[in-house]
Amino acid sequence: MKIFFSIFFCFVIIHASGQFVVPPYLQVGEHPSSTSLRLLWQATAMDTSWKVEYNTGKEWIDAEAIIRTIIASNTTSKIHLYDALFSKLISGQQFNYRVYKSNQIAFSANAIAPKSANQPYRFIAVGDLGAGTKESVQIAKRMFSEKPDLLAISGDIIYENGLVSEYKTKFWPIYNAEIKDYAIGAPLMRSVPFMAAVGNHDADTRDLDKYPDALAFYQFWRLPLNGPVGKEGGAFVPLLKGSEENINAFKNASGNRYPRMTNYSYDYGNSHWTVLDADTYVDWTDSLLKKWVADDINSSTATWKFVLFNHPGFNSANEHYEQQQMRALSPIFENGHVDIVFTGHVHNYQRTFPMYFTPFGKGTLMVGGKDGKAPRGRVINGKWKLDKQFDGISSTKPDGVIYIVTGAGGQTLYNPEQEKDPDTWQKFTYKFVSTIHSFTVVDVNDKKLSFKQVDTKGRIIDSFNIIK
Ligand SMILES: [Fe+2]
Repeated sequence: MKIFFSIFFCFVIIHASGQFVVPPYLQVGEHPSSTSLRLLWQATAMDTSWKVEYNTGKEWIDAEAIIRTIIASNTTSKIHLYDALFSKLISGQQFNYRVYKSNQIAFSANAIAPKSANQPYRFIAVGDLGAGTKESVQIAKRMFSEKPDLLAISGDIIYENGLVSEYKTKFWPIYNAEIKDYAIGAPLMRSVPFMAAVGNHDADTRDLDKYPDALAFYQFWRLPLNGPVGKEGGAFVPLLKGSEENINAFKNASGNRYPRMTNYSYDYGNSHWTVLDADTYVDWTDSLLKKWVADDINSSTATWKFVLFNHPGFNSANEHYEQQQMRALSPIFENGHVDIVFTGHVHNYQRTFPMYFTPFGKGTLMVGGKDGKAPRGRVINGKWKLDKQFDGISSTKPDGVIYIVTGAGGQTLYNPEQEKDPDTWQKFTYKFVSTIHSFTVVDVNDKKLSFKQVDTKGRIIDSFNIIK
């Protein structure tokens, strides 16, 4: 039986290679639940003969309506994106799916449905990964071997300018590789749903005349749309630039995801995830924005509360030290009993002591750019209280929030000279690893959480447990 499946699988993959620009990949979708996932794939032409079916162990069920969208329609990167819904999965159970074109199987794979609140799960958190480096490939393969249920990207999904064309060379081949192409990437996305926070490399480029295929995040990803509705030119959505034709092409491709998909939340397993846009163009002193975050976190009754965004408030690296704008949210995280905040942006690994932080006012806005007016971050001084008793081994109940920088996912590392020079670290930093690329693996099992930071060689460079 095993031999039969292997031969069958090989046949499917070989057959598939000519059909797709990008083979199928899973997403948590606009309305996540433990019984649903979305499946997307990309092809060169519009075709009505695609069909998707899935099997949870009993019979094959047709996926719900396939949505077709033209991406980057006004550029040479033009792609036809297909998007189908699996809505009758069984929480936490493996299922098979297959994609047909013209009644021929073009692709098949298996995956695990999202976990429900009473099921343990494993997630990976990592940022700054889509750089197309050899380390990006090493990290992708290590992540694949850890078999996560969910993968959370803490921003800077793709370098340099968040373009559709950049995904083509530096993202899909590495994180959604064909099995036969294991030398250049891992077949992660067909079996593991990814979620992401938007980073500056994903969202800063908004000149659609210069880069007509920019803001690919809003076109390729399918994430919850329950965050505050931003107004262009308002507190958290910069204006788009470009001709009417290019702006319309982008808006047609991104639909209602732009600009809403930057701040959102949802539950996975027994955990509540709040995902935020930490970019310097966002005014996180805005009271309405802060109220949305506070209401979202306070209203959750989940066992675990995690927050994911790009720019870390608590960073000991010399690089990006002044970009402390997210410190403004620390009192909200503390009041809402957030357990861990995952960030990236700074290309190394850092862990703080469990901590409380009281900002001294709104801080000082840093500005720069051509006109000297572009926001570059906010320095927010304040008072912190650290829990130095927590060791994650015998003392497993942290007093405060733990902040993680997991930005060593592939891009050039920052400040390797600081790793062995703790005198250069801020007092809130417990661990600082900046000489090797790494990613975070977390196992959540009821009231126990096990954290480990894994490097490109598979070594555990940091670990701790939390027990509630
Ligand atoms: Fe960043």
